[in-house]
Amino acid sequence: MTSLTQLSQAIHDAPQWHIPDAFQASNEIQITPLKDQALGAVVTGLDARKAQSGETIYRLKQALAKHLILIFKQQSLDDLQYLAFASYFGAIFRPSADNPVLASQSDTGTPPDVVPVSNAVGQGDYTGHGELSPHADHQWTPLPSFGSLLYAIELPQSGGQTSWYNTIQAYDALTPELKAHIDQLQLITYNSFVRANSNKGSDNYANNSPYYRFKDQPILGHAYPHPLVRTHPETGRKALWLNTLSEVELLNYDDVAGSALIAQLRKHILKPEFRYDHAWETGDIVFWDNQVTLHSRTPFPAEQRRLLKRISLAGARPF
Ligand code: OGA
Ligand code: MN
Repeated sequence: MTSLTQLSQAIHDAPQWHIPDAFQASNEIQITPLKDQALGAVVTGLDARKAQSGETIYRLKQALAKHLILIFKQQSLDDLQYLAFASYFGAIFRPSADNPVLASQSDTGTPPDVVPVSNAVGQGDYTGHGELSPHADHQWTPLPSFGSLLYAIELPQSGGQTSWYNTIQAYDALTPELKAHIDQLQLITYNSFVRANSNKGSDNYANNSPYYRFKDQPILGHAYPHPLVRTHPETGRKALWLNTLSEVELLNYDDVAGSALIAQLRKHILKPEFRYDHAWETGDIVFWDNQVTLHSRTPFPAEQRRLLKRISLAGARPF
């Protein structure tokens, strides 16, 4: 017999419903919205190693669409158990090699299904210990992932906090005139990994990306126009679909006016009322909807270890 991929193995090994204690009844699970926060709900009483009922997964999917991030507490999973749980919510995000992303491997051109997000040298130190500015994962690809999960395994004593931003609320808070103006606009988000690769060896390798592409500037990598105002596929709610720091461009729009409009919207998204700051505890899994949120991270001391594991799920073409 041929050997199984990690994902096939995960589902092959997943607990079966008839095994005592391996099946979790739906009524053991509580979903509690965060109080006075822009988004988020906490899920307790759920052991992600167990087989889940249809009712539970349906409830979680509805809760995610409503609260935008779900925080599962006190989990203890290996990679296969984590993959088996995440796969209830969709296919694993597997970008093609022509669209590099975080953790794309040099041999396959694609990332592993479970991406270590760490600062330990050679063990997934893709993002180091620095700040990460507010972004949606894989926005520069043709089919950005609809959601991602981060699972906290080792945490620093201070810093390394992750924040999420409710971009539905950010859109809703705009004036009717501005909404009408931006509703039909399309935006290209350029691939910062292509930019970083093209800068390798130069002094400003890490972060010299412009925030807006003017038409006389070269294009790096592929360009996929997506709507600036995105519609959530289940709830129909509209959200701003805009990273706050990487290189973008509005289609068929004047350079100076376009860069000013983008700067104005970015400043607006960063208002604290749209943001939730998550204080990690080991064993937390945060599962977020990447279509209508952004996330960022504060820096942490280089000498302290931080290890989270990320799984991203495939998404549709934004509309
Ligand atoms: C990510 C990410 C944030 C963090 O892995 O996509 O943005 O807190 N991580 O490490
Ligand atoms: Mn991210």
